Amino acid sequence: MKRKIAAFVMSIAMVFSLAACGGGNEGGQQGGNQEGGQKTEGEQKPSGKAVTLKCAFNQTEDHPQFRAMQEFSTALEEKTNGAYKIQVFPNETLGPQAETMNQCRTGAIDMAIVGNSHLSALSDYYKTFDMPFLFNSKEHAKKFIDESEEVAKIYSDTEQYGVKVVAYFTAGVRNMYTKNKAISSVADMKNLKIRTMESDTYAKMMENLGGKATPMSMGEVYTAIQSGVVDGAENNEVSYVNSKHYEVAPYYSMTQHLIVPDWLVINKSVYDSFPDDVKTVFDELSLETQNKEYQLWDEEVEKLMATLDTSKVTITTDVDVPSFQDAVKPLHDELTQNEKIKEVYDAVRAVQ
Ligand code: GCU
Repeated sequence: MKRKIAAFVMSIAMVFSLAACGGGNEGGQQGGNQEGGQKTEGEQKPSGKAVTLKCAFNQTEDHPQFRAMQEFSTALEEKTNGAYKIQVFPNETLGPQAETMNQCRTGAIDMAIVGNSHLSALSDYYKTFDMPFLFNSKEHAKKFIDESEEVAKIYSDTEQYGVKVVAYFTAGVRNMYTKNKAISSVADMKNLKIRTMESDTYAKMMENLGGKATPMSMGEVYTAIQSGVVDGAENNEVSYVNSKHYEVAPYYSMTQHLIVPDWLVINKSVYDSFPDDVKTVFDELSLETQNKEYQLWDEEVEKLMATLDTSKVTITTDVDVPSFQDAVKPLHDELTQNEKIKEVYDAVRAVQ
């Protein structure tokens, strides 16, 4: 009962403060897309108009990140009495991640979900997360994010580039998949051309493994495998199945070489333009969304893998993973020469 009264009092307080602030877009940069007419320069947003935050996403509507974001939007709308919501544009509709990251930095869009390499291109702290075999498991990665004091420092380092990290999303564990043969040990990687995400670390990783990296955006991968531009790619099970890569690369081998986070980012000026009470709600919901996505992940992997026709797709679970770990040791040694990478690396190791 007490809780209900407190919630009621809070929502009344929110209505007043939102009305007073006119929905959170006055003052700073005009964040979000406001419904209710064209804006002219210097015009104050009339109170009560809803703000729709545009968020870019590069995968399908079934993806756990998309589903968690839908819940974020519904809750945000509810808790701000309709003043704010989020519209997620899936399937690279707003462009590939590299572009949407830039659009988010400039404020052309408000939010984006991007792979780690787009933040490691800005801040060396994030380069640590591109390292193969950094985390022992998906659970280890989550524990680090939830518990390490280093995380606040890592997050704040992107603000000088105009973006604020608001949530960590798991992107599971990445495995190799290929067109013509299964991978059982690192020796099978010899001379294979494999699509990777865009980062020097992944290029070096492939070199260490005996293959060759061909970086490109997610939307180009299917055709690149199909046409023989690459021999395969590497990704988590959700992306492998949802993006139908199994149709062109039917050998999925559990090499488990990368556990790389995705990040939900928001344009810093847009975030700064929120009134304090909206910031509080937004922060609370970001954390809930982070946990929700994590919770959805494993069941989605299980569900999707069960849909694969095993007469057409070969899943190799018996992989000599230590042979991959040994092959990338020189890369760990090289990267940890960098002070910032080493600092995060040690912080990850300190959480077990
Ligand atoms: C994963 C990750 C995406 C990334 C993609 C890729 O699916 O979640 O953020 O874009 O891999 O390989 O490009």
